[in-house]
This record gives sequence, structure tokens and C-alpha cells, in this order.
Amino acid sequence: MGYVCFCTLNISDRLIFCHPVNGYRIMHHTGIEKVLYGVEDLNAAKKFWRDFGLSCVAEKDDLAVFSVKNGATIEVRPYGDPSLPPAACSETKSTVREVTFGVRSNEDLLALKEKLASLGEVTVDDAGVIHAFDPLGFGMAFRVASCETIETAKIEANVPGNTQRLNQRGQKFHKASPLIMSHIVYMTDDLETQKDFYADFLGFKLTDSYPGRGYFLRCADANNHHNVFLLDPGKGQRGFHHLAFELGSIHELFGGGNNMTRNGWETMIGPGRHPVSSCYFWYFKNPCGGAAEYDFDSDVVDDNWKPQEWESTPENFAEWCLGEGMGASLLPSTIQQG
Ligand SMILES: [Fe+2]
Repeated sequence: MGYVCFCTLNISDRLIFCHPVNGYRIMHHTGIEKVLYGVEDLNAAKKFWRDFGLSCVAEKDDLAVFSVKNGATIEVRPYGDPSLPPAACSETKSTVREVTFGVRSNEDLLALKEKLASLGEVTVDDAGVIHAFDPLGFGMAFRVASCETIETAKIEANVPGNTQRLNQRGQKFHKASPLIMSHIVYMTDDLETQKDFYADFLGFKLTDSYPGRGYFLRCADANNHHNVFLLDPGKGQRGFHHLAFELGSIHELFGGGNNMTRNGWETMIGPGRHPVSSCYFWYFKNPCGGAAEYDFDSDVVDDNWKPQEWESTPENFAEWCLGEGMGASLLPSTIQQG
């Protein structure tokens, strides 16, 4: 499969992204369908995703595929696999190589192929998935959406004056079962160029921002607060930061986080709560690269949402949080085991 990296173009010439969707079909992308990793330690990668709560749907010596509840998948391969697209940053062996977004129809896919081809080479694989790169060299793909709509039970929480759970104990979770993959986060050293590409060229919608530091963007037909977050850490860094998964309750977030901790996985940050997007979170360092984030109760938005500009402060990153999880030595199961 041939790949052409758009970062070989003159990305400082932002004019190439300054013609919005005018003249092209409006894009109907729907969200993240698949994330492909190249990894240094395939066995560690497999254990991580199992412990994280994903279902293994395919496994070979040089490949494993895991699924979340709506059918979106994680695929992990050895980092030297020649079929993998090149990484945007070669400093780490384990990282994301490509993200696949869904679109509504074949017509969307063809229009997108034509649009991306105006910038450089686009390849199409045997399954009809189109592959390209964003301006900074992050692999991206598009296919007709195949993930299912998730239906979940009503959350039963007791509030004085509103009893939803009478004579019934609250739920406890031994581990998590993520429902969907909601967003991916990139560190970027050319924030405005990358934002222009996703927003103006691809038609992603801006939902919130840290002006000059970060942009939250959602696929045009998605209702997630963001599917892509572009973050400029201000240190010239370029690379994958984390991938987020939505859970069904705060109880599941604590149960999933405790299970990861019991299994020896290290918290990056959490549990805590983000003011932007409103969700509870818990991030774990991932042997596949970056982190994997459990989320619960994220904002759901449509075109009536009013984007807000946020000051880039620690308080606006986390309303509150723990830095290193809740402490493995304090977990009940650890105490029982002595
Ligand atoms: Fe996140």
C-alpha cells in the first residue's frame, strides 16, 4: 500500500485549507470506527486491552483485534509490520498509526476521496476504505460507518424527592465494558494548520477551544462533544496523546479503574472531572503508546451547541482529580489479599 505524507507539502501555506466545504459535498462523518496501533510489546498490548474491558475478536501471532460494545475496534500489530502506515512521530515505537472515521454513505466516501486527492495521494484498500494522512502526518482513513447505535438502560440514581432504586442496592462493577470510542487526542506543533484541515477542509465542527493552545472538534454528524482534540503543549511536540472510551456509569468508571490498578496498570491521571465536556475521567498509561481514558457523562451536542473559549489553566483541565489513581494498596481486594 502506498502512502504519501501531506507534511511533505508546504504546510505553512495555510491557503490550501482556507476554502471551506464550498464547492464540495457537505461531509457526513459520524465518529471513530477503528484505531490501528503499531506496538513494541504485542503481549502487553493484548493484556492491556483485555484488562481495559474490550472483547478480543481476532488474534494471531502478529495481530490482535479488540472491540467495544458498538463494534468499533482496536487493532494492534508489531511496530515493524510493513503494512502499517508510518507514524507521525518516529521517536516512540508504540503509537497510533491510523484512525478510521465513519461516513454516512458511499457518496460521502467518494466525495471525500476526491477532496483528499486534491491534496495528495489517497489509497483505497480491498474493502473500499480510503487511506490518507493529515497535514502533520497522522494516518487517517474513512469508511462507510458500520458501528451500531448503543442502547443502554436508564441510570438508577437516588436523589431526595426522586427515588429510582427502592429496596435495591446500587450497582458495583468488577471491571469496565467500554461502549464507544469517543475521541482521539494529538499533540501538535502546528496547531492552526491542523485545525484548519479538520475544521475547514474536512468539515469537522468546533465545539470548544483553548485559543492558541487547543481545539475540540467533532465529526459533522456526531453528537460527541469531541472526536478529535488538537493540543499544542508549547514544547514543539508532535504525537499521539490518548484515546477515550465512554462508559455507562460513574460506578463502572470506578470499577474499571480499580480493575486496571489491581492488574498493575499505572494511572496517568484520575479519577477526576473535566470542566470542558463535563465528563468524569480516569486515564491509564498504555503500552500501545500514550494513554487510554475512561469517560462517563460527557456532554452530548448538536448544532445548537455554543462553543466556548476557555482559558488554558489547570483548573479548566480538571475541576478536581487525583494524580495517581486511588492507590492500589487501598483497594479492598488488595487489602483482603493481605
Ligand atoms: Fe480525553
